[in-house]
Amino acid sequence: MTYSAPSTADAQPAPGAGDFAASAEHVSKGYGRDDARVVALDDVTVGIPRGRFTAVMGPSGSGKSTLMHCMAGLDAVDSGVVRIGGTELTRLKDKQLTRLRRDKIGFIFQAFNLVPTLTALENITLPMGIAGRKPDQEWLDRVIDTVGLRPRLKHRPSELSGGQQQRVACARALASRPDIIFADEPTGNLDSRSGAEVLGFLRSSVREMGQTIVMVTHDPSAAAYADDVLFLSDGRIVDTMREPTAERVLERMKGFDLPGGTAR
Ligand SMILES: Nc1ncnc2c1ncn2[C@@H]1O[C@H](COP(=O)(O)OP(=O)(O)OP(=O)(O)O)[C@@H](O)[C@H]1O
Ligand SMILES: [Mg+2]
Repeated sequence: MTYSAPSTADAQPAPGAGDFAASAEHVSKGYGRDDARVVALDDVTVGIPRGRFTAVMGPSGSGKSTLMHCMAGLDAVDSGVVRIGGTELTRLKDKQLTRLRRDKIGFIFQAFNLVPTLTALENITLPMGIAGRKPDQEWLDRVIDTVGLRPRLKHRPSELSGGQQQRVACARALASRPDIIFADEPTGNLDSRSGAEVLGFLRSSVREMGQTIVMVTHDPSAAAYADDVLFLSDGRIVDTMREPTAERVLERMKGFDLPGGTAR
């Protein structure tokens, strides 16, 4: 995969780029060739504000996961610029990118991806161990108490409920104090009560610990936990909403089901 040559203008941080935990500028990405070509992202420009909880919504196939993967440096873009803080990901070599992902970014996926043979605590501290870093004990204690896992730390994933397992995954993402956490459908495998626990925890990590979180979700009531919502359709950002409620998000999403509803 080749990156587009950055223009001279791209060599300078965009005005205000430093205010964002992550940003995309004119990012496009497609899959396949010729007749099978799919444009997953079509000239997307967006900034993720620091210390806020941003939800990404849109119909299936609208490019939500692709946007998240590109912004997190898990996937290369065809053209455009992605930044984490002031660092331009699209210019980094593989090794530098791996290090940046490890040090600056936390991930939470729909499948919890816990190591079955390790305890909850060992799972939480594993990535830092791999990176050769010692967890800051005070911070770790705070994270563990916020997710409410203190009584379950010695249990293995198979001895935890789905919600508890996802809270372990959340604590693992937070333990290294990343600049930004990307979560793709973190409550997709949870019942509504466990989902609410995890969402409540994500929101309090933003409000109380100043964490920045971007969360892809299909669920308007999950999006209502966020501070801002981005709506994607056909690989473009077509709308944003501040201080969302489930009702308003649901109402907006209904527009996508109508013929031409994405055109606004
Ligand atoms: N590896 C791939 N190869 C080919 N096409 C892909 C690939 N990954 C995604 N796509 C296509 O790119 C488009 C955007 O996919 P993406 O996974 O980003 O959508 P999404 O909004 O996350 O959808 P969902 O809500 O179903 O998870 C879709 O049309 C999809 O089929
Ligand atoms: Mg997806």
